[in-house]
Amino acid sequence: MLHRLRAQADDPILALMVQLAGDTREGKIDLGVGVYKDDSGATPIMRSIKQAEYQLWQAQQTKSYGALAGDPAFLDAMRQLVLGDAADAAQVAAIATPGGTGAVHQALELLRMAQPGARVFAPVPTWANHLSILAHLGIEAVPYRYYDAETHSVDHTGMLADLAQLRSGDAVLLHGCCHNPTGADPDMAQWRALIDVMNARGAVPLIDLAYLGFGDGLEADAAATRAIAESCPVVLVAASCSKNFGIYRERTGILLAVMQDGALQARAQGALTHLNRQNYSFPPDHGARLVSMVLTDGALRADWQAELEAMRHRMTDLRTLLAQTLGAAVGTDRFAYLAQHRGMFSRLPVTPEQVATLRDAHAIYMAPDGRINIAGLHTNTIAPLADALVAVGI
Ligand code: LMR
Repeated sequence: MLHRLRAQADDPILALMVQLAGDTREGKIDLGVGVYKDDSGATPIMRSIKQAEYQLWQAQQTKSYGALAGDPAFLDAMRQLVLGDAADAAQVAAIATPGGTGAVHQALELLRMAQPGARVFAPVPTWANHLSILAHLGIEAVPYRYYDAETHSVDHTGMLADLAQLRSGDAVLLHGCCHNPTGADPDMAQWRALIDVMNARGAVPLIDLAYLGFGDGLEADAAATRAIAESCPVVLVAASCSKNFGIYRERTGILLAVMQDGALQARAQGALTHLNRQNYSFPPDHGARLVSMVLTDGALRADWQAELEAMRHRMTDLRTLLAQTLGAAVGTDRFAYLAQHRGMFSRLPVTPEQVATLRDAHAIYMAPDGRINIAGLHTNTIAPLADALVAVGI
């Protein structure tokens, strides 16, 4: 029966990791997969996480099963980190998931269970795996305009016009902050207009929050999610701990279902816990435990926040330097947007052919759509990148 399987297309981002690993050239520049790197090019284990691992190693007495929904301390700490005071615990159902991707998957399964036939409106562009998971689950994706490539900012008018087509029970996929792949986020007035249209149409927001703390800081980055959670009857939030805790391979994430009608909480919690059991039974625990230790210990938390802030500042500094260097190289301010965007990603105005030339002739790797991982840059690689971009005719 295996011969009946069709060949699967490579994930465009993960394919880059494989290509890069096989490239033996000195000085190759990796602006591909969204992984934070420090000035030495390493993706370090954060100090607080290392410390928590040490404490866990000393204290943990068993690896027996925990709770099917995930460690309650993790669920509680992450709920507070993401939602703050926007919802009471009694209005939130939650499960731990294998990474943010697992949370997105579980959110879509919940949607399909609760509202068969619901469509998911997805921004153009969005993370390629969103569309792949939707197709895998047989859920109809409806594109909505998000990014204006001319102005390098959110196409708010187009977005609202497209979302006017929502039907009751449809979901709207949103990036809570640090939009992947563009780095362009709505401002708070634009978020409020989005909330109004979703509520007017009876749609469910599904927020992917993978870069909390990488944009303008933990509180500012959570503001849109919290405003939505306060204003919409039901909100699904898929949050990842991969980037902001630097625990990518531990697969740590959470799905929060926030509801204004607390009478629905037990049913929602039951459905989410059931989905964990069906898909993988108990969620991964190691990363979740480290996160809850860091968030609930004053000293570890302070150190985590300080290190996260340093990572964030490094990315905004790199953005500024890249915008200045490219601006000077081409003699215009058309790259000023790079300094205004937030998070790990922005898009360069390059064609897939130029992306291929950058890879083949200059050993510079980026996604085929021109998305670059800002955190893959280094003060020393910005000038060579600018030179190569000029050479390919940007
Ligand atoms: C990315 O967009 O590069 C990251 O979210 C990693 C991934 O899994 O694609």
